[in-house]
Amino acid sequence: MYHIGLLGLGTVGGGVAQILADPVGRHPLLKELAIAQVGVRDPHKPRAVALDRQLLTTDLESIVTNPAIDIVVEVLGGIEPARSLILKAIAYGKHIVTANKAVIARHGAEIFDAANAQGVYVMLEAAVAGGIPVIQALRQSLGANRIHSISGILNGTTNYILTRMQQEQGDFAPILADAQRLGYAEADPSADIEGWDAADKIAILASLAFGGRIRREEVYAEGIGGITAVDIAYAEKLGFRIKLLAIARQLSGQPLEVRVHPTLVPLDHPLAGVNGVYNAILLEAEPLGQVMFYGPGAGAGATASAVVADLINIAALLPQGRATHPLLTCQHEEFVP
Ligand code: NDP
Ligand code: HSE
Repeated sequence: MYHIGLLGLGTVGGGVAQILADPVGRHPLLKELAIAQVGVRDPHKPRAVALDRQLLTTDLESIVTNPAIDIVVEVLGGIEPARSLILKAIAYGKHIVTANKAVIARHGAEIFDAANAQGVYVMLEAAVAGGIPVIQALRQSLGANRIHSISGILNGTTNYILTRMQQEQGDFAPILADAQRLGYAEADPSADIEGWDAADKIAILASLAFGGRIRREEVYAEGIGGITAVDIAYAEKLGFRIKLLAIARQLSGQPLEVRVHPTLVPLDHPLAGVNGVYNAILLEAEPLGQVMFYGPGAGAGATASAVVADLINIAALLPQGRATHPLLTCQHEEFVP
């Protein structure tokens, strides 16, 4: 049995606990995974998921230093205390699964360096595009390819808002409130609206695809705050849909471009039909050609699906000892410019 320390029991942490509590019909390794401790801010808060209250603690350090815990799942959000807890957990020999793109986009190099020195895994499938297995695809299935460009809808909240503004001519504020209620938005939704969350995600994807030359602070980010229902209606009349695109591309002989901004997408383009909380990533790869990933990009179930996939991968690899499998764990050099 592998023992999990779960840091956070909000939208994503609750989704993970729910899947692990109901393993029948899912991957057989789920029966080898048990939640041993759960870190929260408020242990008395009502929770949607049925979990033994005795497991809850506000002492998160006691989780990452607990010798009985094998894998720490960080689903707190934000930079601190997430970064320090991840580094401490690694120092104590724990494998890490995180959904936290903000911390990986800014501190990935430091975290992977520490993990490689300790021989532990750091998995981050849930950090980009919710339930879409794009990290594993880039690291494994597409390994034969050179990636020339990535164009993606990487933020579910803003795509949900733009879709509803287009379909219902609805106002921004109540639609954002719905996205928050549905668990799509970040704790501070300005990260979604201003394009910062998508910028974190494209920085991670570009680091994996183009070999670690991306500094998060150099990614241009412009959000959807200035888009009105009138802009959307005029764009439609002209044959375009407004989408918040995250783009990383390397034209021959040119420097790598990494940027996030609202874009006029022709109505017959595959990204124009991606609606609601769905995300999509269109890759130009050589020799494969064009490939598109599509699926739910936020919310409890979609994101927990990716977190639990990482747990299954770690559980499958642990009997082999130290984390040396270069295809499944991220390497320091991918996050060092
Ligand atoms: P929530 O705000 O719903 O949950 C955060 C959880 O962490 C809560 O249980 C909270 O405790 C706990 N927590 C936060 N800070 C502390 C702290 N300092 N000490 C103790 N406990 C703390 O966030 P989400 O679940 O939505 O997101 C978690 C992570 O997953 C973020 O990094 C986010 O970017 C990422 N993510 C989220 C997705 C989504 O659709 N929501 C999709 C993909 C990634 P308490 O419950 O007591 O308040
Ligand atoms: N707030 C993020 C989004 C969560 O809306 O896409 C998924 O990373």
